Amino acid sequence: MLLQLTIVWRRLYSLLYMKSPCLAGHSHRVAQLSVEIGAALGLDTHLLGVLFKGALLHDIGKMLIPREVLFKKGALTPTERQEIQSHPSLGVQILDGVPGFEEIREIVLGHHEKIDGSGYPRGLSAPKIPILTRIVTVADVYDALRAQRPYRKGFPCPEVEKIIKEDPGLDKQVVETLYKQVLAQPAARWPAFCQYNPIKIKMPD
Ligand SMILES: [Fe+2]
Repeated sequence: MLLQLTIVWRRLYSLLYMKSPCLAGHSHRVAQLSVEIGAALGLDTHLLGVLFKGALLHDIGKMLIPREVLFKKGALTPTERQEIQSHPSLGVQILDGVPGFEEIREIVLGHHEKIDGSGYPRGLSAPKIPILTRIVTVADVYDALRAQRPYRKGFPCPEVEKIIKEDPGLDKQVVETLYKQVLAQPAARWPAFCQYNPIKIKMPD
């Protein structure tokens, strides 16, 4: 059962990589950063494994968004924006019904929720957003701002820090942990299952 699950995780991540190496790279960095934050917050090994897998597949729903919309360089139309914002719901549609994926469901569905209720798709506020989801949200925003995209360079660190610290939708404790503990440490502390290999990625047990 565990072996079968691991094969499914890897296969899903490989499909994401085939859709876009850039998107897969983002997902992997978000997974690494999420685990770092989770470890600094004192989460146990099991939860760190759930966090890693959930973060790795958080954007899996984007596989179902047409490339011309997903990678459009100009401004999105309201319909296109709606289409992109459907990716958390599409993600759980991909994963629902597959045994073993229940634990990451909330991360996939909730990673664009904000603690002030301004997120999507459900507009949840703080008490209804679990800590694992809040961690992935912060890591996702951080990487999205820092990473270079085909149409723009990554934002400089000071600007990213200002944006993240001033965002009322991000969990303050998670943000503080990111800046005071994680980014102050070398990446050498990453667990073995975080080491990057786009196709044969090692999954946590
Ligand atoms: Fe997303």
